Amino acid sequence: MENEKPRRPLYYADYIQLDRLLGSQQLQSALHGRPAHDEMLFIIVHQTYELWFKQILWELDAVLAAFRSSPVPEEEVGRAVLHCGRIVEIQRVLIQQVDVLETMTPLDFLDFRDDLIPASGLQSAQFRLLENKLGMRRQDRLQVQAHYTSRLSQGDAARVEAAEKEPSLFDLIEGWLERTPFLNFGDFDFWREYRRAVDAMLAADSASIRSNPTLTEDERAIQLAGVAATARRFADVFEPGASEPVNVAAPGRHLSKRALQAALLINLYRDEPILHLPFRLLALLTDIERNFTTWRQRHAQMAMRMIGTRIGTGGTSGHEYLDQAAERHRVFADLSALASFFIPRSALPTLPPDVRSRMGFRFHPPQ
Ligand code: HEM
Repeated sequence: MENEKPRRPLYYADYIQLDRLLGSQQLQSALHGRPAHDEMLFIIVHQTYELWFKQILWELDAVLAAFRSSPVPEEEVGRAVLHCGRIVEIQRVLIQQVDVLETMTPLDFLDFRDDLIPASGLQSAQFRLLENKLGMRRQDRLQVQAHYTSRLSQGDAARVEAAEKEPSLFDLIEGWLERTPFLNFGDFDFWREYRRAVDAMLAADSASIRSNPTLTEDERAIQLAGVAATARRFADVFEPGASEPVNVAAPGRHLSKRALQAALLINLYRDEPILHLPFRLLALLTDIERNFTTWRQRHAQMAMRMIGTRIGTGGTSGHEYLDQAAERHRVFADLSALASFFIPRSALPTLPPDVRSRMGFRFHPPQ
């Protein structure tokens, strides 16, 4: 614009507010008059985590916004794949970063640990926001305090609890899967064909166990019981009751049967062009879930190494709580366990040509 004043050239340190960033490490041990060398590392590692949490939330919010519309525009699925792919790479950094913090020895940590009480990672509002936006419900959390936000400041607790009321990624993905148009193929009864293929596969498994001369009778009985349990799980997928989850004994969240069937179909026929991006998105959600669990396990091991069996600065049982949280605090566990319902490609029902052609991308050159 003509009247606009010439701007001062942008300076690197101003652009990224480096003074504020580099001036934000206040050692508690120094305030107490006995500076501990490793506290600088401790603070910087935590700050780095929080910055990466911020970036993950930024990506996640973009995916949530896209999936709030129904139907989800096709191009948004491609973008969601890019956002989720970025989240997965950031998580890898987060897991690796534990190694850097572990260059601090437990004795060096003890030099300043008591100065931190009662502050704890338990009070990371961004971490709780992430959990909630992904879809963790309060009833699925381990109960370690009166309320999972009771140790947060009022402002943080309000933000975290507000996120619980918004549709989470789990909710939106479940809805999107339930709306998958390919669950019904017109005249072609996919699920009847699939059930036939599954029954044939399980019958072949049982026959090979029965005829295996190397098994003792006890071993045979155990293996046949395993096949029978698999058959029951499969039967549950095929039973009516589309809005109910498949009857899995595991605690936590579970997709509705209809959503699970759609996820199964997308995985089984992922080579059909129209299903390829949805397949990649589901695979990335599984990676996000697995990386979260890996981080939790890695963090629990680190806590064990640093503080042994002592309670945490936040007052939980420490390592024991973190271990259980790694086991229990899961959101997309059903996607990770989907392989239980796969059958070999060679046994998959062949899709009729008209169904395949509807699933393909076709370029029609100008006549
Ligand atoms: C010396 C290193 C560390 C130790 C010994 C440690 C220990 C603990 C313990 C014992 C807890 C359970 C809550 C409590 O009673 O305080 C906890 C929770 C937590 N910590 Fe750490 N931590 C360490 C480093 C980190 C780092 C670098 C982060 C990165 C942000 C982090 C993030 C968290 C989070 C998010 C929780 C809550 C986990 C949940 O409730 O599932 N911690 N930590």
